[in-house]
Amino acid sequence: MALIAPSLLAADFLKLEDECDLINNSVADWLHFDVMDGRFVPNISFGPMILDFVKKKLKKPCDVHLMIEEPEKYVEDFKKAGADHITVHWEACRHLHRNIQQIKSLGLLAGVAINPHTPVSLLDDILGDVDIVLIMSVNPGFGGQKFIPQSLKKISELKKMITAQKTNTLIEVDGGVSLENAKQIIEAGADVLVAGNTVFRSQHPMNTISQLKNL
Ligand code: DX5
Ligand code: ZN
Repeated sequence: MALIAPSLLAADFLKLEDECDLINNSVADWLHFDVMDGRFVPNISFGPMILDFVKKKLKKPCDVHLMIEEPEKYVEDFKKAGADHITVHWEACRHLHRNIQQIKSLGLLAGVAINPHTPVSLLDDILGDVDIVLIMSVNPGFGGQKFIPQSLKKISELKKMITAQKTNTLIEVDGGVSLENAKQIIEAGADVLVAGNTVFRSQHPMNTISQLKNL
């Protein structure tokens, strides 16, 4: 049974309180919080101020995905705003080991995300230090895109690396996750499924979360 992390990016921002209630009352495990800076990705979303409000209502861990340059400048702000996990991008971190240590020193779970073109083999020497590896299964920046099938191979390869190194790293998959492909993604080795449009744009988001959870 995978952990389910609905992505707030696809929520109705005029009804953030209701969307938090929905997550609280559902079987979702985490809330996924996508931060975009208009530099690392060609889109701008929301930052610590919004997280601060969301955390007033949310009763579940908040999984912050930083799609930003120079994440080290903002990690403390997100911790103060209530982040429980912080994931930074491999492609945005020249000193990834330092970034990961910074996040862990604040008592948070630390994750590294890789874009579709970045091979999992590049994580070999950091795997033992991270709690989460987030495999982007679309190009980051927008919700509602189509799952890139090559991601399945990356998930199983990463799973093998984790087994070989005997680490407890969670594999999180983000982008284009649907009720149709979720089972295959879990079978490839995913531990956490992020789902934006699949959850928030469905007729019954609460049921959709349960369906994903019970696959
Ligand atoms: C994309 C974000 C995703 C996004 C996923 O850059 O990192 O978390 O919200 O949205 P869906 O599930 O709609 O593809
Ligand atoms: Zn994300």
